[in-house]
Amino acid sequence: SVQVLAAASPRDLGLTAANVVLARLAARRNPVLGIATGSSPLPLYEQLARRAGDLSPLRGFALDEYLGLPPAHPQSYHAVVRREVIDPLGLDPAAVRVPDGAAADPDLAADRYEAAIRTAGGIDVQVLGIGSNGHLAFNEPGSALDSRTRVVALTASTREANARFFPSLRDVPTHALTQGLGTIREARSLVLLASGPRKAQAIAAALTGPVTPDVPASVLQLHPDVTVLLSGGAEAAL
Ligand code: GLP
Repeated sequence: SVQVLAAASPRDLGLTAANVVLARLAARRNPVLGIATGSSPLPLYEQLARRAGDLSPLRGFALDEYLGLPPAHPQSYHAVVRREVIDPLGLDPAAVRVPDGAAADPDLAADRYEAAIRTAGGIDVQVLGIGSNGHLAFNEPGSALDSRTRVVALTASTREANARFFPSLRDVPTHALTQGLGTIREARSLVLLASGPRKAQAIAAALTGPVTPDVPASVLQLHPDVTVLLSGGAEAAL
């Protein structure tokens, strides 16, 4: 079932999200966090960083990675996760994995990533953002609801949305490795954060529309433990 909470400010959003995440991780013996990049989860990571003492043995798996960016590229999700999550939260870098977007054989890297998640015992709490086209991680509209970690092509709208992090649109990778919707659905708990009016339509379609590959985030409706935290107008179309 999906619980929807509206927060009055990004700080409130982060505080509430941190409480939800920490409560679920505390129930697990060897907790595993699923990590999302993007601006939406940053208030959560800020609050988790303040409570870093509660987190030391935490392991992590990122949702996705650009294909063809070396890990040292500042906009690779390897680098972003290091900067925005691993370092501020005081996690062990060796305990946090990101799909290998620089692999010679990306299909094999995708299969290995799935295997690593399984070996870790699965993801306990998966943090999520949402694209304004309803994407989850890099599962663009049309992604199968039971898809696994794989190579995907990015849509023009996603490349344009992410162009702000690159010198020009041409520099935004055209493909990515992403956990599939089936992979994401296997996490024990999902916590999705969305802020701002640009997310309002996608949130309404995901939570109140039909469950369909046209709106990848509509798979939330099939999951038993989902918390959706909204602020700044993302709740406007509900
Ligand atoms: C990217 C990421 C997604 C993220 C989305 C929204 O494309 N791959 O995981 O949810 O953008 O990002 P933001 O939170 O910055 O709006």
